Amino acid sequence: MRASILVAALPALALAEEQVPLVDKIKGFWSKATAAVSSAVPAVPSPLDAGAAKAAEQIQHELTLDTWRDVLTVDPTASAPTTQDWLVYITGGNTTCYGLCGNTTKAWNTSLPLLAARPNPPKFAVVDCDKEAILCNSWSVGPPSLYYFQIPKPLADQSAPAPTVRFIPLNRTSTTVDTFKKLVLDGEYEKRAPYEGAWHPFSGWLQEYHLAIPVAWVLWGFSKMPSWLPMILISFMSRSFM
Ligand SMILES: *[C@@H]1O[C@H](CO)[C@@H](O)[C@H](O)[C@H]1NC(C)=O
Ligand SMILES: *[C@@H]1O[C@H](CO)[C@@H](O)[C@H](O)[C@H]1NC(C)=O
Ligand SMILES: *[C@@H]1O[C@H](CO)[C@@H](O)[C@H](O)[C@H]1NC(C)=O
Ligand SMILES: *[C@@H]1O[C@H](CO)[C@@H](O)[C@H](O)[C@H]1NC(C)=O
Repeated sequence: MRASILVAALPALALAEEQVPLVDKIKGFWSKATAAVSSAVPAVPSPLDAGAAKAAEQIQHELTLDTWRDVLTVDPTASAPTTQDWLVYITGGNTTCYGLCGNTTKAWNTSLPLLAARPNPPKFAVVDCDKEAILCNSWSVGPPSLYYFQIPKPLADQSAPAPTVRFIPLNRTSTTVDTFKKLVLDGEYEKRAPYEGAWHPFSGWLQEYHLAIPVAWVLWGFSKMPSWLPMILISFMSRSFM
């Protein structure tokens, strides 16, 4: 009896043993990857960049306003109760990130294969706020940043606790491969307080009352409004009051 319990426990032990060196191995990659990134000449795309971009493309899902709810889900074959972690990288181009997200995105692309090699890794997604302005406004997020989702699988009676979300803004100038290592591999994201406000993508009241998208359009409209327009409107209104 005892012996059979021992035998049953052995594979689990072997697995645990194997995971320790794996984590060490991943951590070992970082120093190499970081060195390679900082020594790369920025003007010439290095093979490492090309490789990172290609790997990033394969690992991460691209979110859009129409599809994000279908993408950020739990694997249907996983048995409840379980949660699926999703790590969403929020980036932008010249409009929403003033062209300053390039270095951060490069660090993210380089980090992705290493983060994915972690035991029990999260799934990865990316949002480009230049392309998906309404999605970003409806979550009230801007680039560069990370959104860490923990999505519970609904129970048999379809009830599910609200997903836990953690928003992590990134510094445009100082984010490196090492930042992502600390946040994801070393588990620093867990120290961030979960976000529970009105803009929560799943359970905020703006989503619950279907206001997030209309409000996002209004915000987008304001961002597109030329700065002279309010002046004209104010002077027009004050004149008509006189
Ligand atoms: C990052 O990877 C994406 C593919 O997912 C690619 O489109 C993008 O150009 C890459 N960016 C950088 C800065 O390497
Ligand atoms: C962003 O702006 C830079 C500099 O003004 C320009 O070289 C680049 O082509 C722009 N990129 C896009 C996607 O418009
Ligand atoms: C990106 O990195 C290059 C090279 O390290 C640097 O010259 C540039 O100022 C950085 N850009 C930003 C926005 O931090
Ligand atoms: C971003 O990092 C730079 C350099 O480390 C620092 O000077 C700056 O204050 C940081 N910005 C924010 C918003 O934390």
